Amino acid sequence: MKILVTGGAGFIGSNIVDALIEAGHDVCVVDNLYMGRLQNLNPNAKFYLMDLRADELEKVFALEKFDVVYHEAAQMDVRRSVENPVFDAEVNVLGTLNILQNAVKAGVQKIIFASTGGAIYGEQDYFPADENHPNRPVSPYGITKLTVEKYLFFYELTYNLQSVILRYANVYGPRQNPHGEAGVVAIFIEKMLKDQQPVINGDGTQTRDFVFVGDVVRANLLALDYPKSDIFNVGTGIETDVNIVFRELNKIVRKNTPEKHGLAKDGEQQRSVIDYKKIKKTLGWEPVVSLQDGLRQTVEYFQRFEV
Ligand SMILES: NC(=O)c1ccc[n+]([C@@H]2O[C@H](COP(=O)([O-])OP(=O)(O)OC[C@H]3O[C@@H](n4cnc5c(N)ncnc54)[C@H](O)[C@@H]3O)[C@@H](O)[C@H]2O)c1
Repeated sequence: MKILVTGGAGFIGSNIVDALIEAGHDVCVVDNLYMGRLQNLNPNAKFYLMDLRADELEKVFALEKFDVVYHEAAQMDVRRSVENPVFDAEVNVLGTLNILQNAVKAGVQKIIFASTGGAIYGEQDYFPADENHPNRPVSPYGITKLTVEKYLFFYELTYNLQSVILRYANVYGPRQNPHGEAGVVAIFIEKMLKDQQPVINGDGTQTRDFVFVGDVVRANLLALDYPKSDIFNVGTGIETDVNIVFRELNKIVRKNTPEKHGLAKDGEQQRSVIDYKKIKKTLGWEPVVSLQDGLRQTVEYFQRFEV
């Protein structure tokens, strides 16, 4: 199939690109390298250095005639979205609408959208949250992801554009960018390997559902063959606090980094964990990489390529 991956130079997008090419698909990438990196790009993918919001996107769609679009590009930093909600909405809503308008015009059959299972549900009423949990995003980032989900419903209704929405938990693994504010695993690993002191925000009892990028990529490939529109959580159902992640990494890196705590971040969610029963039942997906294995693979990647 002819496939566009937006954000294909980023962490998750580039891992999806590799798997699609491995599976024999013809892949193009659109990325403005805002957070993505050229070194992540698969040499067999055709690369358009372009912003989601650019008018030239129309020419790319007309020329390439994509069957499917994986939409991974986004402003994905929750704190940045709080500081600058206008920028967040420009990229995540207006940029996405530019993709969707062009997709309709060029006859794309299907969109696979990277949504969030953390920020969309907000503070949860029950644990783990399934797809029917109320949506109460507490950040502009969560609001823009939810907005796009609603637009996708409109595009299917109005233009018959199929969409599979994957609500990722906290994804970690090789190629995660350690220089932003998001991605606690990558940030801790980089600091530990450089003999710098990582800081745990608050008391570290805030929990997340950490899912390995290889598992997330598998869910994305299964979504390609799914013949309907739907919404699926992609997580492990396991709640892990940030202190545990720090201690597991300390065991793997073996530098005996002391545990230091800083101020809690305003507005940070306290607990987040999502249920994957629906995607297991429908697509036969389940996470297979344990936290210990995934962390080990991520540390090995950083030792080889990043530090
Ligand atoms: N990492 C996670 O834990 C997580 C969790 C839930 C959802 N998601 C979603 O998954 C997707 C991928 O996230 P990631 O962790 O790989 O982040 P990332 O920042 O590594 O990847 C995003 C990519 O989009 C590109 N991009 C950003 N703005 C752009 C623009 N205006 N035009 C073109 N390209 C642009 C960036 O350069 C980058 O390569 C995002 O949509 C994110 O919201 C990620």
